[in-house]
Amino acid sequence: MPLAPRRVYADKQALVIACADWLTDRLASRLSQGVPRIALALSGGNTPRPVFEALASPVRAGRLDWSRIHVFWGDERCVPHDHPDSNYRMTRTALLDAVPIPAANVHAVPTDLPPAQAARAYQQRLQAYYGGPHLVPGRPLFDVNLLGMGADGHTASLFPGSAALEETHDWAVAVEGERPEPRVSLTLPVLASAATVVFLVTGEEKREVALRARHHDRSLPAGRVWAEGDMMWMMDRAAAGAADEEK
Ligand code: 6PG
Repeated sequence: MPLAPRRVYADKQALVIACADWLTDRLASRLSQGVPRIALALSGGNTPRPVFEALASPVRAGRLDWSRIHVFWGDERCVPHDHPDSNYRMTRTALLDAVPIPAANVHAVPTDLPPAQAARAYQQRLQAYYGGPHLVPGRPLFDVNLLGMGADGHTASLFPGSAALEETHDWAVAVEGERPEPRVSLTLPVLASAATVVFLVTGEEKREVALRARHHDRSLPAGRVWAEGDMMWMMDRAAAGAADEEK
């Protein structure tokens, strides 16, 4: 499998602006093609927050028809939606409250349910949006799936060695015992069902693992992600390594 291309920026701030601009251009371009709607899968954690805030700025958000944009999450912590650790809460405060996206277009994981039921309900939500229970090659669920990566190589809430990595039938699974709070995560085939998968990674502490993941090291969940369409890594120099180490 070829190495996914990467875009490297001098620092996190430059990366944030470049990613927000790329997302805006991408969504505006897709919407200009007259598609009835497009779906985004967003990551949680800390890295994407400033990207969402930049995307929410009028100069970017004002270019987009939010009535045709649907938002999902690649994973969620099983905490209330107003909990500080909620990915939904982070996205709502950084982006969704600032843009005219209809409530029906925001597909939060129903974390008021027990984890397994939340995963099942979220899966039904995804399949209802997609129009069926089977992903069809050539018809990706997401236009863009924006993923982060932990320093251990996890992505979404797929952690190293987890049985959830082997799930290929269910679209969403409950992940318990891997972190203090239970999680709901999309499974690898669903994370891959995107026209473009973007890994957004910053920081020197992720450099070695990011390189292994880009080389498809299967011991790393991020190394096992593929894309129906294409994949790109957007990184700061700290995470990418010195320019003369371009790999
Ligand atoms: C989550 C994320 C997770 C995240 C990585 C990186 O719910 O935590 O979806 O996969 O992307 O843990 O997190 P940081 O961006 O905070 O380093």
